[in-house]
Amino acid sequence: MGLSIFVITVFLGGAFAVPALVGPFYQTNDYYTYEEIGDYLDGLAWSYSNRVVLKEIGVSYENRTLRTITISNGDGRPGKNVIFIDAGFHAREWLAHTTALNIINELVVNYDKNKDLLDDYEWIILPLVNPDGYTYSRSDIERIDWRKNRKPSGNGCIGTDLNRNFEVGWGAGDASDDPCNFQLYRGEAPFTEPESQTIQRVLLELTANNRGKLYLSIHSYGAEILYPWSYAKETIKNYKEHLEIAEKAIQAISKTSRPSKYVARPGNAMYVAGGSSMDYAYKVGFPLSFVWELPGIRGNEEFKFYPPKYLIRELVRETWVGVRAMAKNVIKYYPTS
Ligand code: ARG
Ligand code: ZN
Repeated sequence: MGLSIFVITVFLGGAFAVPALVGPFYQTNDYYTYEEIGDYLDGLAWSYSNRVVLKEIGVSYENRTLRTITISNGDGRPGKNVIFIDAGFHAREWLAHTTALNIINELVVNYDKNKDLLDDYEWIILPLVNPDGYTYSRSDIERIDWRKNRKPSGNGCIGTDLNRNFEVGWGAGDASDDPCNFQLYRGEAPFTEPESQTIQRVLLELTANNRGKLYLSIHSYGAEILYPWSYAKETIKNYKEHLEIAEKAIQAISKTSRPSKYVARPGNAMYVAGGSSMDYAYKVGFPLSFVWELPGIRGNEEFKFYPPKYLIRELVRETWVGVRAMAKNVIKYYPTS
């Protein structure tokens, strides 16, 4: 009996698309395609129109839309500070955009549990920075390790590493000037790619009006929380603040049932990388800027970029505990005036 009711509910939800009644049907035990991510966002906008706004902020090289979801508490108060999160810079890092979807789910669907994070702040989330690369990486097992975008880059090769295409320290460290470099091609110049241009524009908008306080870019893997600089072995002014906030996130994670072992350190301590979005966001005025490298191991199981589906749920839940703690402290350190 219970089972048949469940089946009917799911069937109705899928067949007649009545999300207002059924609610968007979100599963954390699978990797959504680009299209499914779009459907999920549309469902949220339909069901929670008072608290959710979708925006088309740009278009990828292959014409896929880059969409942000802006999440508020619906009180209409303008000028709140902003937490900006993006994920999926790198095609193969499938857990990253999956984690972003779960963050969205916590803030929108589980709003009652998390409304304290929306009293004085808005969240703007771009769950999939590189839809072309991601779609390509899903298209064939041979392509699964693709990292770059899909715009032709020169010498008959394809793709630029979007996280080497930003302006700060462009070309420094591990960034490559060879278009055929499989992973780290920096592009012909900063901001040659539609995807990095789009993020640049949004970050500049958010700092022009002084609202952007936290920039958080989700990657995998490594179980590290990184802060600027990435492009040089130099220390930023408020590194202590970054370290404290990152360590509070790690502490919160350490209290969960099977915690991943995280470390917090400057990006350059992992490796020097010029042209990253983290450095750019910090440089243009986000006072807090992090790369969150998700874990690539669970217990004894090493999975790197591709956790088995059965682990997705506990991984995204663990990360939410950390992101929540991080956000609490960001809001405390940088209250909306
Ligand atoms: N792993 C990401 C990348 O290679 C993040 C880099 C962060 N910066 C750093 N210096 N490790 O793009
Ligand atoms: Zn990455």
